[in-house]
Amino acid sequence: MLNSPVDEIKSRLDIVEVIRNYIKLQKAGANYRAICPFHSENKPSFFVSPARQIWHCFGCQKGGDIFGFVKEIEGVEFGDALRILAQKAGVELKKQDPKIISQRQRLYEISDLACRFFEKQLKESSTGREAKKYLLSRGVKEETIKEWRLGYAPDTWEGLSDFLVGRGCEREEIAQAGLILKSEKTNNFYDRFRGRIIFPIFDLASQVIGFGARVFQDQKSKIKNQKYDDVAKYVNTPNTLLYDKSRVLYGLNKAGKEIRKKDSCILVEGYMDVITAHQAGFENVVATSGTALTPWQLNILKRHSDNLLTAFDMDIAGDNATKRGIDLAQSQDFNIKIITMPKDKDPADVISENPQEWQNLIEKAKSIHDFYFENTLARFDKNTLDGKIGISKILLPVIKRISNKIEQNFWIQSLTRVLGTKEEDILEELSKINFSQDEFGDKEVVSSPQKTRRELLEEYLLTLAFKRSENFSLVKEDDFVLLSLPTIKLINYFWGKEKQDELSQELRDKMNYLSFKTEFLEIDNDKIKTEFKNCLQEIRTLALKNKLDDISKEIKNAEEEKNFEKVQELVHKFYNLCQERKL
Ligand code: UTP
Ligand code: MN
Repeated sequence: MLNSPVDEIKSRLDIVEVIRNYIKLQKAGANYRAICPFHSENKPSFFVSPARQIWHCFGCQKGGDIFGFVKEIEGVEFGDALRILAQKAGVELKKQDPKIISQRQRLYEISDLACRFFEKQLKESSTGREAKKYLLSRGVKEETIKEWRLGYAPDTWEGLSDFLVGRGCEREEIAQAGLILKSEKTNNFYDRFRGRIIFPIFDLASQVIGFGARVFQDQKSKIKNQKYDDVAKYVNTPNTLLYDKSRVLYGLNKAGKEIRKKDSCILVEGYMDVITAHQAGFENVVATSGTALTPWQLNILKRHSDNLLTAFDMDIAGDNATKRGIDLAQSQDFNIKIITMPKDKDPADVISENPQEWQNLIEKAKSIHDFYFENTLARFDKNTLDGKIGISKILLPVIKRISNKIEQNFWIQSLTRVLGTKEEDILEELSKINFSQDEFGDKEVVSSPQKTRRELLEEYLLTLAFKRSENFSLVKEDDFVLLSLPTIKLINYFWGKEKQDELSQELRDKMNYLSFKTEFLEIDNDKIKTEFKNCLQEIRTLALKNKLDDISKEIKNAEEEKNFEKVQELVHKFYNLCQERKL
């Protein structure tokens, strides 16, 4: 009987297809495997089972069904995962479901309403039509405007908020969505985006989460070099519950598929660059929207491809933030190439003038190391001491980051030649470089609660027992107090004390998941029993250790309270426990 939306969605979606939308999967027998998107690793230990419709990573021990996967990878609550998957499955959710109407959900609704308002303004208002003309004049096609949902924010103080309030939104929540601000003087709210072209920003499920808003009179030349003097060229949504600019890559919702297909991703700076590129058929393009690459963005990209090409119109080696982003990518083993842009042109300019020229630039992209070498050598005089020091200061860290030894050695040789020095001196200097940990930030970006050691031990115990169920007889009555309720229930189930349909859905899922793990358990049959015994012993020891810890704390408390009678009682208990367990 399929009555819950969760079951309905599960019956309509295949886990392999859902996960494949986010990461590269490879067939491995009856299952699929991949590099785990939730922790950093080189060998794939992330598995998907189409038969069981679950996933599991043997590296970080995360696992679950499609809902768990979407929660982890999108970093959202269950309600949001439910909504994302419902949309995919074409299942309608009842609005009344309290889980679904989360605060985030409200912000999604408001952002989408605002987006529709802006779209309509671009089509229908008179200045909106001017803005549209401007877009068309820059080569943006009608259907592209529709596809990327470009809009226009009227040049009024309350145009948007009046509209949203008319649609039943509270001013407070509109402010939470970043669309209006409170004036300190008058205490009234006013629209953040006024008289600007609107670029909605989407999450991976193509829901609107924020906006970039560009002045539209062709003030490009006027503003280009003095972005913040007069009037900012762009106004963006501030960080909200939905939008965090360090975690967004503009266009990835549309580019993901092509990035995986081409196994390469082109990074540009601006919204216009992304839209123009996609329109011309270069669909593996995304933008960092004016920020340097963050660990978050790199982690997201890593799911799609290891090959990055940058097409920034700034001087990479000269701009510290950009360089840091690229170093970070290098340290995460991306292959990076640099597309050199013609002076004073950005990708949008090049593509709208001549797409073939863009294609040529892509093909001529330089490896990051070639780029750094050429760029650095052009900036210093290698024949002077100052020049040599300058060159080595920039290039040594670059070489140090190369993880492939053969490649690294190649560049060591090159630098030796360029500086006219001895190789061992270069090696010595290299060995002095130490990258501090925090320079590269956290690799682990998704933080869901880690399983405790006890949970892991219990899971292992169960998988061992699933291999040979007679092992269950080794579990003593006394052990039951040490185990968690789900584990006890599963043991009872195996002893026939509980029927499968008496198990809760959660337990059936757990069993399914554990039998999946069992498939991968590589252990000789004759060793299972010993392993089981050891594992059980570990659980017993761990439980005892925890208990002793608790008693120690109690003793300390009792001592502080000068309750010596209690201290003695507890010490007694402590020794008895040790005795009992023969410690
Ligand atoms: P650009 O100045 O290159 O803008 O800034 P653009 O989007 O390519 O627009 P055109 O080509 O001049 O029409 C690149 C990106 O930097 C961010 C925006 O995300 C922009 O797309 N930016 C730029 C801001 O956030 N604020 C600014 O004031 C300027
Ligand atoms: Mn630009």
